[in-house]
Amino acid sequence: MAWSVHDIPDLGGRTAVVTGANGGLGLETARALAGAGAHVVMAARDQEKAASAEKRIQEELPAASLRVVPLDLGSLVSVREAADRVLADHRQIDILVNNAGLMAIPERRTVDGFEMQLGVNHLGHFALTAQLLPALLRADAARVVSVTSTAHHMGRALDPRNPHLEGSYGPWKAYGQSKLANFHFGIGLQRRLAAAGASAASLVAHPGLSDTDLQATSVEETGGGFTQRFFHGLAGSTGMTAEQGALPQLRAATDPSARGGELYAPRFVNFGPPVRRPILRRLGLGKAIERLWEVSERETRVTLDVAAAQRALSA
Ligand SMILES: NC(=O)c1ccc[n+]([C@@H]2O[C@H](COP(=O)([O-])OP(=O)(O)OC[C@H]3O[C@@H](n4cnc5c(N)ncnc54)[C@H](OP(=O)(O)O)[C@@H]3O)[C@@H](O)[C@H]2O)c1
Repeated sequence: MAWSVHDIPDLGGRTAVVTGANGGLGLETARALAGAGAHVVMAARDQEKAASAEKRIQEELPAASLRVVPLDLGSLVSVREAADRVLADHRQIDILVNNAGLMAIPERRTVDGFEMQLGVNHLGHFALTAQLLPALLRADAARVVSVTSTAHHMGRALDPRNPHLEGSYGPWKAYGQSKLANFHFGIGLQRRLAAAGASAASLVAHPGLSDTDLQATSVEETGGGFTQRFFHGLAGSTGMTAEQGALPQLRAATDPSARGGELYAPRFVNFGPPVRRPILRRLGLGKAIERLWEVSERETRVTLDVAAAQRALSA
């Protein structure tokens, strides 16, 4: 039997944080987690969209426990403020789904001067995860899910000398780099959690081709880029629904049999029910992860040291 939202265990008493929960896969993820009884923090940038997403879930699930927290992943100050708000209300976090993202847009910078796709898709999530780490480590067996894409196969590992692709920017090149960063982050975080003996786990999910705003936004932002239009058309005609596309990240976040370091994705690469897929690109993985950490800590000035966080909690 294919895995579905009906397989999500009872999440009563659990707290989940979902980034980009105001639309697309993030909204479906928030809805399904709330439907299973979790209290869901909807971390979102556009507050109008967030209010209507919250209303939609609440109308469908009157018992849903939701809280919107403003989060712009393109601003380290906003990330810090969002993390502080979440930590003020929650001693522990059971599920963190790092879902928000942008795809193949023209060259832009975040508030902090980072290349936008790397900044939003990876660096913002790196800082958020680091800042929420104490609450994740306090939970019995927290899960952190990083959302990647098949585009990670075309990505290059971060070059510490030019992570923001100065002088060599390409919309797809930057997307591939950011999605490979998500993949390396998910696997690297699991390695650090395991080495520190933490009960938390980090997993990676690929949604498959899903008909959300992702493609429309990239067409709009590029003023009708050719490949962007191609993927928009493909997602509209053959893509899965957002409900279906959210299943790999929901399975990674909740399936009791899932383990840290695993990748969940559709059975047929971009389509089909969520299944565990093998981790490819193992050659040079350790080195790429070390470089990712080095660049991410240097750029964000946020340290993500699981062992130190673990020691601080038990002191
Ligand atoms: N759909 C697919 O076919 C597909 C395939 C592979 C991977 N993915 C991945 O799935 C994830 C979700 O994408 P989606 O398909 O649901 O696309 P979507 O409908 O466009 O949703 C993207 C989400 O990211 C948020 N976001 C963008 N910039 C942000 C920022 N600076 N700060 C905070 N949030 C921000 C958006 O919020 P605002 O509207 O407020 O900006 C929105 O909630 C992405 O990581 C994407 O790379 C999707």
